[in-house]
Amino acid sequence: MNIIEEASKIKEEVIEFRRNLHQCPETAFHEMMTMEYIREHLEEWNISYRLMEPSGILAVVGSGEKTIALRADMDALEVGEETGLPFSSRNNGCMHACGHDGHTAILMAVSKILKEHENELDRKIFLIFQPAEETAQGAESILETGILKGVDGIFGVHIFSGIEAGKISLEPGERMASTNWFSILIQGKSGHAGKPHECVDAVTAAASLVMNLQTIVSRNVNPLESAVITVGKVTAGTARNVVAGEALLEGTVRTFSKETEEIIEEKVKRMAEAAAKMYEAEIFVDYQPSSHPALVNDKGLTVAARKKAEDVFGEEEFVHVPAMMLGEDFANYTKEMKGCFAFIGGGGSYPNHHSKFDFDEEALVQGVKLMLVFAFV
Ligand code: NI
Repeated sequence: MNIIEEASKIKEEVIEFRRNLHQCPETAFHEMMTMEYIREHLEEWNISYRLMEPSGILAVVGSGEKTIALRADMDALEVGEETGLPFSSRNNGCMHACGHDGHTAILMAVSKILKEHENELDRKIFLIFQPAEETAQGAESILETGILKGVDGIFGVHIFSGIEAGKISLEPGERMASTNWFSILIQGKSGHAGKPHECVDAVTAAASLVMNLQTIVSRNVNPLESAVITVGKVTAGTARNVVAGEALLEGTVRTFSKETEEIIEEKVKRMAEAAAKMYEAEIFVDYQPSSHPALVNDKGLTVAARKKAEDVFGEEEFVHVPAMMLGEDFANYTKEMKGCFAFIGGGGSYPNHHSKFDFDEEALVQGVKLMLVFAFV
């Protein structure tokens, strides 16, 4: 396919897109400058598009019975950038620390190339510039419009550090987890540190509960299933010599199967109830089920894509990357259509979401090539 060769010619341009986008990171549903930047280019390339509310762009090229969707996420994170890059964020306290600038740049380049070859397309291709991936609301906001009904397959890519630069993981089955959230408020009775017997200590109850929650994965979940419970934030007390009257535990649960998800939710609630009885505290659990399912790549679609991709890249460009316990709202699309999500190696020594996160821009060209392959699956 000579269209794919175009990816190498667009290298400088896709890097420029990425660096420009990197300088103006915007958080979920506030991607206004980003949208304007994309819109200007779509206009220039004569690509028809529709603006979404409150943010997001859905562009389209080609026509035909078959419909393929290509998706990029556009939002950034509330992270203060510390990369020292010459094209660092100009938006204080906000940073493209998850590579979404790269994903957007890739899809822009792909849009341009596909439009130039529109007369060779036997199909309709939706180009989705999606908002709000980080808050897991963006995919849903696009699906709600109903525009994607009848799409034969949707594809996306994600750049991850920790994978050798430019290498591709394109594998069927479970790829990323569903993510639940919980907050547990423990209300005891405050008082003098020297008179604990007259108080109900929220810290003791909280500490015990944190430890007990860690037995759920090891004792209640099938050992052949993957699951994680993390209490990432604990807030309690006011002073060293005061028994804490209140404690708040905030955490997240990551799983792949619905069944495991339900077991964990039930157990978290039951342990909180038990702790309330044991410590005579009042405990309130706010458990938010996942806003997206686990991300599972459709087997048929992924095998077909992989076969085409191997012809373009050669087998040696592919690596096996185990499924990740991170969340990705691309999974929401797969409730309504077949989906396939690939990982692209970004090299780099800092993980995604880190204030020094950066990636090897070679990943951009690989991304453009791969998305072009996807367009023709
Ligand atoms: Ni991300």
